[in-house]
Amino acid sequence: MAQPLQRPALGVARFYNFLPEGEFFLGEVLAGLAQPRKILPPKYFYDAHGCALFEQICALPGYYPARAELAIMVEHGAAMAKFLGPGCQLIELGSCSSRNTRILIEQLQPPLYVPIDIEAEMLRSNAAALARLLPWLNINGVCADHTKLLTLPEFVGVPIRRKVVYCPGSAFGNIAVQEAGEFLRFARRTVGLGGALLIGVDLKKDKLTLDAAYNDAAGLTAAFNLNLLERINRELGGDFQLQRFRHRTFYDEDRGRVEMHIESLASQFVHVGGERFKFSQGEMMLTGISCKYSADEFRALAQRSGFAPAQTWTDAVERFSVHGLIAV
Ligand code: TRP
Repeated sequence: MAQPLQRPALGVARFYNFLPEGEFFLGEVLAGLAQPRKILPPKYFYDAHGCALFEQICALPGYYPARAELAIMVEHGAAMAKFLGPGCQLIELGSCSSRNTRILIEQLQPPLYVPIDIEAEMLRSNAAALARLLPWLNINGVCADHTKLLTLPEFVGVPIRRKVVYCPGSAFGNIAVQEAGEFLRFARRTVGLGGALLIGVDLKKDKLTLDAAYNDAAGLTAAFNLNLLERINRELGGDFQLQRFRHRTFYDEDRGRVEMHIESLASQFVHVGGERFKFSQGEMMLTGISCKYSADEFRALAQRSGFAPAQTWTDAVERFSVHGLIAV
Protein backbone atom coordinates (compact mmCIF):
# COMPACT_ATOMS: atom_id res chain seq x y z
CA MET A 1 0.00 0.00 0.00
CA ALA A 2 1.29 3.46 -0.88
CA GLN A 3 2.47 5.55 2.05
CA PRO A 4 0.53 8.78 2.55
CA LEU A 5 2.59 11.78 1.53
CA GLN A 6 4.58 13.18 4.47
CA ARG A 7 4.08 16.92 4.70
CA PRO A 8 6.07 18.96 7.19
CA ALA A 9 3.89 20.82 9.71
CA LEU A 10 3.17 24.38 8.69
CA GLY A 11 4.66 27.20 10.70
CA VAL A 12 2.90 30.37 11.78
CA ALA A 13 3.89 34.02 11.47
CA ARG A 14 2.82 36.47 14.18
CA PHE A 15 3.80 40.07 14.82
CA TYR A 16 4.01 42.15 17.94
CA ASN A 17 4.40 45.90 18.01
CA PHE A 18 6.55 47.14 20.89
CA LEU A 19 7.27 50.56 19.45
CA PRO A 20 6.52 53.47 21.76
CA GLU A 21 3.51 55.63 20.99
CA GLY A 22 4.03 58.97 19.33
CA GLU A 23 6.66 60.58 17.20
CA PHE A 24 9.88 58.98 18.40
CA PHE A 25 11.60 59.43 15.01
CA LEU A 26 10.91 63.18 15.13
CA GLY A 27 12.00 63.39 18.77
CA GLU A 28 15.34 61.69 18.08
CA VAL A 29 16.04 63.79 14.99
CA LEU A 30 15.28 67.05 16.82
CA ALA A 31 17.47 66.02 19.75
CA GLY A 32 20.34 65.13 17.40
CA LEU A 33 20.11 68.37 15.43
CA ALA A 34 20.07 70.41 18.63
CA GLN A 35 23.51 69.08 19.72
CA PRO A 36 26.49 71.41 19.37
CA ARG A 37 27.98 68.71 17.11
CA LYS A 38 24.96 67.54 15.17
CA ILE A 39 24.23 63.82 14.84
CA LEU A 40 21.48 61.76 13.22
CA PRO A 41 20.51 58.30 14.49
CA PRO A 42 21.71 55.61 12.01
CA LYS A 43 19.00 53.11 12.87
CA TYR A 44 16.69 55.07 10.53
CA PHE A 45 18.80 54.37 7.43
CA TYR A 46 16.71 51.34 6.56
CA ASP A 47 13.38 52.47 5.17
CA ALA A 48 12.31 50.65 1.98
CA HIS A 49 14.58 52.81 -0.19
CA GLY A 50 17.48 52.58 2.30
CA CYS A 51 17.15 48.78 2.38
CA ALA A 52 17.17 48.58 -1.41
CA LEU A 53 20.28 50.79 -1.53
CA PHE A 54 22.01 48.71 1.13
CA GLU A 55 21.33 45.56 -0.87
CA GLN A 56 22.99 47.20 -3.88
CA ILE A 57 25.95 48.21 -1.69
CA CYS A 58 26.30 44.58 -0.60
CA ALA A 59 26.68 43.59 -4.25
CA LEU A 60 29.55 46.05 -4.85
CA PRO A 61 32.99 44.46 -5.35
CA GLY A 62 34.55 46.85 -2.80
CA TYR A 63 32.05 46.23 -0.01
CA TYR A 64 33.82 43.16 1.36
CA PRO A 65 31.85 42.70 4.66
CA ALA A 66 28.77 41.30 2.92
CA ARG A 67 30.68 38.78 0.82
CA ALA A 68 33.03 37.79 3.62
CA GLU A 69 30.20 37.17 6.09
CA LEU A 70 28.22 35.21 3.52
CA ALA A 71 31.27 33.04 2.77
CA ILE A 72 31.63 32.33 6.50
CA MET A 73 27.97 31.37 6.80
CA VAL A 74 28.17 29.07 3.76
CA GLU A 75 31.33 27.38 4.98
CA HIS A 76 30.64 27.23 8.71
CA GLY A 77 26.83 27.39 9.00
CA ALA A 78 26.65 23.69 9.81
CA ALA A 79 29.33 24.05 12.51
CA MET A 80 27.40 26.99 13.98
CA ALA A 81 24.23 24.92 14.13
CA LYS A 82 26.17 22.14 15.85
CA PHE A 83 27.65 24.61 18.32
CA LEU A 84 24.20 26.02 19.21
CA GLY A 85 22.45 22.65 19.27
CA PRO A 86 18.80 21.71 18.75
CA GLY A 87 15.73 23.43 20.23
CA CYS A 88 16.93 27.04 19.88
CA GLN A 89 14.78 30.13 20.03
CA LEU A 90 16.57 32.30 17.48
CA ILE A 91 16.26 36.00 18.30
CA GLU A 92 17.61 38.20 15.54
CA LEU A 93 18.44 41.83 16.25
CA GLY A 94 18.22 44.21 13.28
CA SER A 95 17.02 41.98 10.47
CA CYS A 96 18.08 43.53 7.16
CA SER A 97 20.38 40.73 6.02
CA SER A 98 18.03 37.91 5.21
CA ARG A 99 20.46 35.72 3.26
CA ASN A 100 22.77 34.99 6.18
CA THR A 101 19.76 34.38 8.37
CA ARG A 102 18.28 31.93 5.91
CA ILE A 103 21.48 29.91 5.82
CA LEU A 104 21.57 29.77 9.61
CA ILE A 105 17.89 28.82 9.90
CA GLU A 106 18.20 26.06 7.31
CA GLN A 107 21.09 24.56 9.26
CA LEU A 108 19.73 25.15 12.76
CA GLN A 109 16.05 24.35 12.13
CA PRO A 110 15.00 26.39 15.17
CA PRO A 111 11.52 25.73 16.57
CA LEU A 112 11.04 29.49 16.95
CA TYR A 113 12.47 32.50 15.08
CA VAL A 114 12.03 35.98 16.59
CA PRO A 115 13.26 38.76 14.27
CA ILE A 116 13.34 42.17 15.95
CA ASP A 117 13.53 45.38 13.96
CA ILE A 118 12.40 48.98 14.14
CA GLU A 119 11.01 48.96 10.58
CA ALA A 120 7.59 47.28 10.61
CA GLU A 121 7.23 47.02 6.84
CA MET A 122 10.64 45.46 6.34
CA LEU A 123 10.07 43.05 9.20
CA ARG A 124 6.82 41.89 7.63
CA SER A 125 8.12 41.55 4.08
CA ASN A 126 11.30 39.72 5.17
CA ALA A 127 9.24 37.39 7.36
CA ALA A 128 6.77 36.74 4.54
CA ALA A 129 9.61 35.92 2.11
CA LEU A 130 11.18 33.56 4.64
CA ALA A 131 7.82 31.89 5.36
CA ARG A 132 7.40 31.19 1.64
CA LEU A 133 10.84 29.55 1.46
CA LEU A 134 10.64 27.73 4.79
CA PRO A 135 6.96 26.99 5.36
CA TRP A 136 7.66 24.96 8.52
CA LEU A 137 9.19 27.93 10.35
CA ASN A 138 7.43 29.54 13.35
CA ILE A 139 8.01 33.28 13.17
CA ASN A 140 7.21 35.74 15.94
CA GLY A 141 8.30 39.12 14.61
CA VAL A 142 8.73 41.94 17.11
CA CYS A 143 8.70 45.53 15.93
CA ALA A 144 10.85 47.40 18.45
CA ASP A 145 13.94 49.53 18.76
CA HIS A 146 16.53 46.75 18.51
CA THR A 147 19.23 48.99 19.97
CA LYS A 148 17.44 49.31 23.33
CA LEU A 149 16.81 46.91 26.20
CA LEU A 150 13.64 44.95 25.63
CA THR A 151 11.88 42.32 27.70
CA LEU A 152 10.55 39.74 25.29
CA PRO A 153 7.32 37.91 26.02
CA GLU A 154 7.56 34.18 26.70
CA PHE A 155 6.28 32.52 23.55
CA VAL A 156 4.35 29.55 24.92
CA GLY A 157 3.61 26.30 23.16
CA VAL A 158 7.04 25.79 21.64
CA PRO A 159 9.57 23.81 23.70
CA ILE A 160 12.85 25.74 23.85
CA ARG A 161 16.19 24.43 25.08
CA ARG A 162 18.28 27.54 24.52
CA LYS A 163 17.79 31.18 23.60
CA VAL A 164 20.18 32.57 21.01
CA VAL A 165 20.67 36.20 20.05
CA TYR A 166 21.84 36.45 16.43
CA CYS A 167 23.32 39.74 15.30
CA PRO A 168 24.44 39.59 11.65
CA GLY A 169 25.40 42.20 9.08
CA SER A 170 28.07 43.98 11.10
CA ALA A 171 25.26 45.89 12.87
CA PHE A 172 27.24 45.50 16.10
CA GLY A 173 29.88 47.82 14.62
CA ASN A 174 27.30 50.57 14.28
CA ILE A 175 27.24 50.89 18.08
CA ALA A 176 29.91 53.10 19.64
CA VAL A 177 32.67 51.23 21.50
CA GLN A 178 31.59 52.87 24.78
CA GLU A 179 28.06 51.45 24.35
CA ALA A 180 29.09 48.05 22.98
CA GLY A 181 29.50 46.51 26.46
CA GLU A 182 26.02 47.63 27.44
CA PHE A 183 24.62 46.09 24.25
CA LEU A 184 26.34 42.77 24.98
CA ARG A 185 25.03 42.79 28.57
CA PHE A 186 21.56 43.39 27.17
CA ALA A 187 22.01 40.37 24.87
CA ARG A 188 23.25 38.39 27.90
CA ARG A 189 20.09 39.25 29.89
CA THR A 190 17.92 38.36 26.89
CA VAL A 191 19.32 34.84 26.48
CA GLY A 192 19.78 34.03 30.19
CA LEU A 193 22.31 31.63 31.72
CA GLY A 194 23.40 29.00 29.21
CA GLY A 195 21.97 31.00 26.30
CA ALA A 196 24.14 31.93 23.35
CA LEU A 197 25.18 34.82 21.16
CA LEU A 198 26.11 34.50 17.50
CA ILE A 199 27.46 37.79 16.26
CA GLY A 200 29.13 39.16 13.14
CA VAL A 201 32.07 41.47 13.83
CA ASP A 202 34.08 43.23 11.14
CA LEU A 203 37.83 42.95 11.69
CA LYS A 204 40.40 45.75 11.79
CA LYS A 205 42.29 46.13 8.54
CA ASP A 206 44.19 48.60 6.37
CA LYS A 207 42.73 52.06 5.76
CA LEU A 208 42.77 51.66 1.98
CA THR A 209 40.41 48.66 2.00
CA LEU A 210 38.09 50.35 4.48
CA ASP A 211 37.97 53.68 2.68
CA ALA A 212 37.20 51.85 -0.58
CA ALA A 213 34.44 49.77 1.04
CA TYR A 214 32.61 52.82 2.36
CA ASN A 215 33.34 55.20 -0.53
CA ASP A 216 32.16 53.48 -3.67
CA ALA A 217 32.62 55.17 -7.03
CA ALA A 218 29.04 54.38 -8.05
CA GLY A 219 27.83 56.70 -5.28
CA LEU A 220 25.59 54.11 -3.66
CA THR A 221 26.95 54.71 -0.15
CA ALA A 222 26.44 58.44 -0.70
CA ALA A 223 22.84 57.80 -1.74
CA PHE A 224 22.36 55.52 1.30
CA ASN A 225 23.66 58.24 3.61
CA LEU A 226 21.74 61.12 2.03
CA ASN A 227 18.54 59.06 1.98
CA LEU A 228 18.36 59.86 5.69
CA LEU A 229 17.79 63.52 4.80
CA GLU A 230 15.21 62.58 2.16
CA ARG A 231 13.45 60.45 4.72
CA ILE A 232 13.36 63.35 7.19
CA ASN A 233 11.93 65.58 4.44
CA ARG A 234 9.32 63.02 3.47
CA GLU A 235 8.24 61.70 6.86
CA LEU A 236 8.87 64.66 9.13
CA GLY A 237 8.20 67.53 6.73
CA GLY A 238 11.83 68.69 6.78
CA ASP A 239 13.26 71.00 4.10
CA PHE A 240 16.82 69.74 3.62
CA GLN A 241 17.99 70.76 0.13
CA LEU A 242 19.97 67.73 -0.87
CA GLN A 243 22.21 69.44 -3.41
CA ARG A 244 23.53 71.60 -0.56
CA PHE A 245 24.89 68.61 1.34
CA ARG A 246 27.37 65.91 0.54
CA HIS A 247 28.34 62.47 1.77
CA ARG A 248 31.73 62.20 3.53
CA THR A 249 33.18 59.03 4.98
CA PHE A 250 36.61 57.89 6.12
CA TYR A 251 38.33 55.39 8.38
CA ASP A 252 39.65 56.91 11.61
CA GLU A 253 42.56 54.61 12.36
CA ASP A 254 43.10 55.84 15.93
CA ARG A 255 39.51 55.15 16.90
CA GLY A 256 39.31 52.02 14.74
CA ARG A 257 36.09 53.08 13.12
CA VAL A 258 34.60 54.22 9.85
CA GLU A 259 32.75 57.50 10.29
CA MET A 260 29.94 58.49 8.00
CA HIS A 261 29.12 62.19 7.84
CA ILE A 262 27.00 64.61 5.88
CA GLU A 263 28.75 67.88 5.15
CA SER A 264 26.89 71.15 4.68
CA LEU A 265 28.16 72.82 1.49
CA ALA A 266 26.77 76.23 2.40
CA SER A 267 25.79 78.35 5.35
CA GLN A 268 22.08 77.60 5.59
CA PHE A 269 19.00 77.04 7.73
CA VAL A 270 16.96 73.85 7.77
CA HIS A 271 13.51 73.37 9.28
CA VAL A 272 12.25 70.17 10.84
CA GLY A 273 9.11 69.79 12.97
CA GLY A 274 8.60 73.54 13.28
CA GLU A 275 12.16 74.10 14.55
CA ARG A 276 14.98 75.90 12.76
CA PHE A 277 18.60 74.67 12.67
CA LYS A 278 21.62 76.56 11.41
CA PHE A 279 24.36 74.80 9.43
CA SER A 280 27.60 76.58 8.66
CA GLN A 281 29.59 75.95 5.49
CA GLY A 282 31.77 72.87 5.93
CA GLU A 283 29.92 71.72 9.05
CA MET A 284 29.95 67.94 9.43
CA MET A 285 27.05 66.00 10.87
CA LEU A 286 27.76 62.46 12.07
CA THR A 287 25.23 59.95 10.69
CA GLY A 288 26.87 56.64 11.46
CA ILE A 289 29.91 54.74 12.60
CA SER A 290 31.18 51.26 11.81
CA CYS A 291 33.60 50.12 14.52
CA LYS A 292 36.20 47.51 13.70
CA TYR A 293 37.61 45.08 16.27
CA SER A 294 40.41 42.56 16.32
CA ALA A 295 39.12 39.10 17.25
CA ASP A 296 40.95 39.41 20.60
CA GLU A 297 39.47 42.83 21.34
CA PHE A 298 35.97 41.55 20.71
CA ARG A 299 36.44 38.38 22.77
CA ALA A 300 37.76 40.41 25.72
CA LEU A 301 34.78 42.75 25.53
CA ALA A 302 32.35 39.82 25.37
CA GLN A 303 34.06 38.19 28.35
CA ARG A 304 33.61 41.35 30.43
CA SER A 305 29.92 41.32 29.46
CA GLY A 306 29.02 37.85 30.74
CA PHE A 307 29.91 35.58 27.84
CA ALA A 308 32.47 32.81 27.56
CA PRO A 309 34.00 33.06 24.08
CA ALA A 310 33.88 29.64 22.48
CA GLN A 311 34.20 29.85 18.70
CA THR A 312 35.47 32.36 16.16
CA TRP A 313 34.89 31.69 12.48
CA THR A 314 36.58 33.86 9.85
CA ASP A 315 36.81 33.97 6.06
CA ALA A 316 39.92 32.74 4.27
CA VAL A 317 41.69 36.13 4.33
CA GLU A 318 40.43 37.16 7.80
CA ARG A 319 38.43 40.21 6.86
CA PHE A 320 35.34 39.37 8.91
CA SER A 321 34.52 37.24 11.94
CA VAL A 322 31.48 35.50 13.38
CA HIS A 323 31.72 34.65 17.08
CA GLY A 324 29.77 32.03 18.98
CA LEU A 325 29.58 32.68 22.76
CA ILE A 326 27.81 31.12 25.71
CA ALA A 327 26.27 33.16 28.53
CA VAL A 328 27.92 32.34 31.87
N1 TRP B 1 26.17 47.79 9.06
C1 TRP B 1 26.88 48.13 7.87
C2 TRP B 1 28.36 48.36 8.15
O1 TRP B 1 28.75 48.66 9.24
C3 TRP B 1 26.32 49.31 7.11
C4 TRP B 1 26.07 50.53 7.94
C5 TRP B 1 24.97 50.82 8.61
C6 TRP B 1 26.97 51.59 8.16
N2 TRP B 1 25.13 52.01 9.25
C7 TRP B 1 26.34 52.50 9.01
C8 TRP B 1 28.25 51.87 7.75
C9 TRP B 1 27.00 53.64 9.44
C10 TRP B 1 28.89 53.00 8.18
C11 TRP B 1 28.28 53.89 9.03
O2 TRP B 1 29.15 48.20 7.24
